[in-house]
Amino acid sequence: MDTLVIRAEDVSNPGKVPSLAIVPLDPTRDRRALESHFASLHREDLRYRFCGSIKREGVTQYLDQISVTGTPCYGVFDDGLALVAVCQLERLGCDLEVGLTVLPTFRRKGFGKALLRRSASYARARGLKGLNIHSLGDNTPMLSLARRIGMTVKIHSGEADGHLTLEPVQEMELPTSPH
Ligand SMILES: CC(C)(COP(=O)(O)OP(=O)(O)OC[C@H]1O[C@@H](n2cnc3c(N)ncnc32)[C@H](O)[C@@H]1OP(=O)(O)O)[C@@H](O)C(=O)NCCC(=O)NCCS
Repeated sequence: MDTLVIRAEDVSNPGKVPSLAIVPLDPTRDRRALESHFASLHREDLRYRFCGSIKREGVTQYLDQISVTGTPCYGVFDDGLALVAVCQLERLGCDLEVGLTVLPTFRRKGFGKALLRRSASYARARGLKGLNIHSLGDNTPMLSLARRIGMTVKIHSGEADGHLTLEPVQEMELPTSPH
């Protein structure tokens, strides 16, 4: 089951967000929910997500593109089936780069952190070595979150790269044969 229920320790205010789960999204099947999610974000949020000014048509093109490429996505729906937090995962060599957005009223509840943890599990399960984020250099929430999960952050020319080296998955110890 590729679903992770957000644990109490991941959510800063669990009483306000009971039993929400991180679920895999299909960019084609869940297109309408993704469109609504991005439409609910402020222009500045979109600028931070895409590391530069982007028009609404640019977001539409991005959603077209991730449908075609089948880019892996995860999200969290609220009780009204609104997509309140999403991440898109892009493989870059041996690393996985994560782009994430959380709707303003759902911030500081641990959703961003939980999505990054889910992304790290996804990457480790596929033998990838690192988790990356790319952000504008003044994106305090994202850079604080990145540092909070242990990423090393380097800022250069107004942009920032965060990197977390992932522990390899341990091989399961097989029981020794009695013979
Ligand atoms: C960046 C973003 C995804 C963070 O999501 P979030 O769900 O609010 O983050 P979390 O609640 O998981 O925060 C975890 C930790 O990150 C840090 N953090 C998050 N937002 C912060 C803020 N505004 N100021 C300072 N630290 C912050 C804190 O250490 C926080 O832990 P705490 O709440 O216990 O103090 C969200 O602000 C967002 O969608 N921004 C617009 C789009 C964007 O910038 N995307 C990133 C592009 S890669």
